[in-house]
Amino acid sequence: MTRVFSGIQPSGEMHLGNYLGAVRQWVIDQHEYDSIFCAVDLHAITTQQDPDDLRSKTLDTVAGLIAAGLDPEQCILLVQSHVHEHTDLAWLLECTVSFGELSRMTQFKDKSARQSGDFVSAGLFTYPALMAADILLYDTDRVPVGEDQRQHLELARDVATRFNSRYGDTFVVPEAAIPKTAARVMDLQAPHNKMSKSVDSVAGTVLVFEEPSAIAKKFKRAVTDSDTEVRFDPDEKPGVSNLLSILAACVGREPADVADEYTRYGDLKVATAEAVLAVLEPIQTRRTELLADPAELARLIEIGASKAEELAVKVMDRARNAMGFLPRG
Ligand code: TYM
Repeated sequence: MTRVFSGIQPSGEMHLGNYLGAVRQWVIDQHEYDSIFCAVDLHAITTQQDPDDLRSKTLDTVAGLIAAGLDPEQCILLVQSHVHEHTDLAWLLECTVSFGELSRMTQFKDKSARQSGDFVSAGLFTYPALMAADILLYDTDRVPVGEDQRQHLELARDVATRFNSRYGDTFVVPEAAIPKTAARVMDLQAPHNKMSKSVDSVAGTVLVFEEPSAIAKKFKRAVTDSDTEVRFDPDEKPGVSNLLSILAACVGREPADVADEYTRYGDLKVATAEAVLAVLEPIQTRRTELLADPAELARLIEIGASKAEELAVKVMDRARNAMGFLPRG
C-alpha cells in the first residue's frame, strides 16, 4: 500500500496556509493510504525556542492536527523527537548531501537572512537532510506538502537516488503531492509573500485557532488590487487571486469559476471569510475539547511513537548495513 508521510513544525500556531496547503490533504490521505504524520519538533529548534514554549506548542500542534481531522486510529501521529531514528538517519544523509546542494535551498537563504542578531544555526543549513531522513525512514511514496516544500522534496529524492546508487537499493524515492488549489496561500496584507508562521505579519496571517471575529476582520481588511475587476490572475492581481484561491479551496471549486460569481471586492471578502469560518469553526471546537484532556493526548502521542518506531528501526538497520557500519555483537 502507498505510504504517506508529512510533517508540520510546532514553532508557531497553525495558520490557514498550513491547513489548506497540507493538513487538509492529510485528513483525506489517512483514509486512502498507509499514513504517518509528524509534529517536527526537531525542525523547530533550527531557530531558538523557549523550552516551555516548545513543549506547549508541540502538544498544541498534536491537538490541532487531531482537531483538524487526523484520527490516531487511521494514521500514525507522532512527535518527531520521540523516535531517535530520525536524527540517526539524518547524520547518514548529511554525509550524502553536498554543501552546494544545501546552499541552493531558497528557504535557507530566506530564513537565514531573517535571523536577528546574525546567529544562523548549522541546523538551519542542514535541515533538508533531517527532512529527507523523516521521509526516507518510512519507505514513503507520497509526501503531501504545500508548494514551498517542493525544493526540499526534490533534494530528498536526489539524496535517496544517490544513496541507492552508492550503497545499493535502500530507500524508496518519494514523490511530492502538492494540491492544485491553495498550494501557496499568500499573506493577506502582502500578497507577494506567502502566509507564514515566522514572518511578523499579524494582520496578514489567519490562524486556524483564532477568534472568528478576528478572522472575519482580517479578510475585511485584506489588501486587494488597484482596479475593481474580480478575476483570477495571480501575477497581475495577487491579492484578489489569493482570496479566490482560499474561497475555492474551502468550497472545493476552481478559483477561476468562483471569480465569475463576484463583481465587487467587498462581497468576495465577506464570502471568503464565511467559507473559511465554516471550515475552521468545527476544528476550533474540537481542539478545545482535546486540550481539556491532556492525559488522553499523552496516551495518543505514545501510541504514535511506538507504532512509528517499529517501522523506523527496520529502515534504519537497512541503511546502516548498506553503508557498512559494523553490527553490534
Ligand atoms: P511547515 O511547518 O513550514 O509547514 C507545514 C506544511 O504547511 C505547508 N505550508 C503552506 N501551504 C500553503 N500555503 C502556505 N502559505 C504554506 N505555509 C506552509 C508546507 O508546505 C508544509 O507542507 N519542513 C517542513 C516540515 C517537515 C516535513 C518533513 C514535511 C519536516 N519534515 C517531511 C514533509 C515531509 C516545514 O517546515 O513545514
